[in-house]
Amino acid sequence: MNNKSIIILAAGAGTRMKSTTPKVLHKISGKAMLYYSIKEALKLSDDITVVLYHQASRVQEQMQKHFEGINYVIQDHENYPGTGGAVMGIKPKYEKVLVLNGDMPLIQAGELKKFDIEATIVMSVLELDSADGYGRVIIENGNVKKIVEQKDANEQELAVTIANAGIYQFETNFLLENLPKLSNDNAQKEYYITDLIEMAINEGKVLKPLTVNEENFKGVNSKVELADAEVIHQNRIKNEFLKEGVIMRLPDTIYIEEGVEIQGESILENGVSLLGNSKIINSHIKTNSVVEDSIIKDSDIGPMARVRPGSDLNKTHIGNFVETKKALLNGVKAGHLTYLGDCEIDEGTNIGCGTITCNYDGINKYKTIIGKNVFVGSDTQLIAPVTLEDNTMIGAGSTVTSDVKDGQLYTTRAKKRAVEGYFYKHFENKK
Ligand code: UD1
Ligand code: CA
Repeated sequence: MNNKSIIILAAGAGTRMKSTTPKVLHKISGKAMLYYSIKEALKLSDDITVVLYHQASRVQEQMQKHFEGINYVIQDHENYPGTGGAVMGIKPKYEKVLVLNGDMPLIQAGELKKFDIEATIVMSVLELDSADGYGRVIIENGNVKKIVEQKDANEQELAVTIANAGIYQFETNFLLENLPKLSNDNAQKEYYITDLIEMAINEGKVLKPLTVNEENFKGVNSKVELADAEVIHQNRIKNEFLKEGVIMRLPDTIYIEEGVEIQGESILENGVSLLGNSKIINSHIKTNSVVEDSIIKDSDIGPMARVRPGSDLNKTHIGNFVETKKALLNGVKAGHLTYLGDCEIDEGTNIGCGTITCNYDGINKYKTIIGKNVFVGSDTQLIAPVTLEDNTMIGAGSTVTSDVKDGQLYTTRAKKRAVEGYFYKHFENKK
C-alpha cells in the first residue's frame, strides 16, 4: 500500500443522465457512485485526488460527510474540458498513479490491485458483445494501437467490441510530460486522457492491456446503466449475506442498502427493504416491510411494517401496518395498525390495535413513556408528553391526556346508552 497515487475523475456534467444532480452523486444501494470509488481507493493509497467542476461544492460536501484526508481540485474545465484536461495540473506524490473514473461504482480494491504491473501504462480492457457507449480499443497485429472514442469512430471502428474500461495506471513522469501535448482536435473538442495511449506507443513505451469484467468496471452514463449497475451491486450485497447464513425468500425482490448489517440467523421475506445503517440481529422481517436506520434484535416484524429512523426493537413483535419512529421497544407486542413515535415501551406491554402516540402538536414533538406489563386497549390515543407507569390498563377507545399511575385503569369512554327501538322511530319519522 501507499506506493501509488490515485486520481478520481468526477468533474463531468453527466449530460446523458438527464438530471440536475451531478452524475457522480446519483445513488446505488443508497450511496453516491463517487462514494464507492473513494472508499475503494482509500484501501490502496493515502494520496487521493478527486477532480471536480460541475456543482463542485455540492459533491465535495457530500463526500466530506464520509471521508477525511482526500484532496479535492477544480478542473479548468472552460479551457481544458475532457478526461485529459481533468488530470492537468495535479502533482501525484508517488511514482505511479492510478486514474479512476468517478462513474464506476462497481469497482473493488481487489480488482484495482491487478494493475500492479511494471509498464509505462497499464490500461483496462473490456471484451464485450457490444461496446456501445465506450471508447473502442483498436488492435493491430495483436498490439493495442490507440483508443477511439465512440463519437470519433468510423464505421469499422464502431464495430470493434473491445472497449476501454476507463481505468489506467501511469508512470507519473510519463503522465506529467505528456499531458501538455494533448490536443482537443476531435468531435467533442475535449482533451482526452485516452490519447496518451497512442503517444506512449509512438514513443516506444511499454503498454500493458489488462482484461477486466463489466461486473466490476461498468461505467454509468445513463439511468438505464445506473439501474443495471444497481442490480449487480444488490446481488453482491445479498450474496454476501446469504453466505453468512441469512435466509432470503425471493432475493431478487429484496433491497438492501450499503451500510446495513445483518447478524445471526435472520430471515428476510420477499419485498423487504433494509435502508441506511440498519442492523438486524436474529430477527424475522416479513413480506414488504421497510426498515430504515434502526436496530432490530430478536424480534419479528411485519408483514407490511414500517420501522423508521431511530427505532430500536428488542424481543418485540410488531405486525401489519405498524409504524415506528424513534421508538425504543423492549419486549413489546403491537400486532396491528399502530403508530408508535418518540416513545419508550418496556417489557410485557401489549399495544392494542389502532393505538396512536400523538407526538406532535404542530410545533414540537413530545415523548410517550410506557412501563412494564401495561395493557393499552384498542383505538387509544396517547397525547404526549405522557407516562403510563408499570402495571396499568387503558380502556379501549380512550384519549389519554395525563399520566397513569401504577395499578390504575384509565378510561375516557362515554357512558353507555342503549335506547330501545330508536332505529325504527328515527327512520319512520323521516318518511
Ligand atoms: C470514458 C473514456 C472511454 C471509456 C469510458 C469508460 C475518455 C475520453 N473516454 O468515456 O474511452 O470507454 O470512459 O467508462 O476518457 N470527467 C471529468 N472532466 C471532464 C470530463 C469527464 O472529470 O471534463 C469525468 C467524469 O465525471 C467521469 C469520467 O471523467 O467520471 C469519465 O467521463 P465520461 O464523460 O463519462 O467519459 P466516457 O464518455 O464514458
Ligand atoms: Ca463514463
